[in-house]
Amino acid sequence: MNKNIVIAIDGPSGAGKSTLAKRIANKLGIMYLDTGAMYRAYALKTIRSNIDTLIKEDVEELSDDIKIDIHYENDGSQKVFLDGDDVTSLIRSPEVTKGASDVSAFPKVRLKLVELQRDIAARNSVVMDGRDIGTYVLPNADLKVFLTASVHERAARRLEEMKLSGYDEVTHDSIVADMEYRDKNDSSRTLAPLMKADDAFSVDTTANTPDETFEEVFTLVKKAIGETYA
Ligand code: DC
Repeated sequence: MNKNIVIAIDGPSGAGKSTLAKRIANKLGIMYLDTGAMYRAYALKTIRSNIDTLIKEDVEELSDDIKIDIHYENDGSQKVFLDGDDVTSLIRSPEVTKGASDVSAFPKVRLKLVELQRDIAARNSVVMDGRDIGTYVLPNADLKVFLTASVHERAARRLEEMKLSGYDEVTHDSIVADMEYRDKNDSSRTLAPLMKADDAFSVDTTANTPDETFEEVFTLVKKAIGETYA
């Protein structure tokens, strides 16, 4: 392989990014990186330090003293470590979910995590999912996909996932409210907001099964990187 393959998948929460990105990575035998997990780990550090996730100076100050590592298991799954602790499950709580959107608006936080993300892409072929991968982190990606779906469909998917993870107290309405808060926050921040890159393919997954989305996007992958890898 002469050059790393880099695929960027962006979109709002619940659009199906991680399911799709993992599957493409698996099929191509390359790495998958969930960048949202890094912002979640940063938010957990903030909460553990008793800092309000909305106070920019205090949140940014933590950036010199945080260690986020992503480890890959043999089965391809990803584990997230914060300052040496495995926080893979803890970062999925509703409190961390909201906090991640808050801290991700602060430039020092983003610059720290973007540096890690670019470093990983410089050394590996990767499918990276997030909000700003195609527009800001990896503007030269071989393929950029922007996934969308209606907020009600995204909330229904997230509700199912959260129930399976044991978060029984969540409701469809609470998830819709959370998503609307995050969509607005993520789209309106100044640095690298959630946005479709001009050269990204837009795919609406509202009426799709995960298989249908995969087939549609994998056709684009083959066109972008050539049949040899597919
Ligand atoms: O994908 P996710 O829901 O796990 O992401 C959690 C939060 O992190 C999301 O609300 C916005 C932020 N995020 C970001 O700003 N940029 C990324 N590339 C990924 C996530």
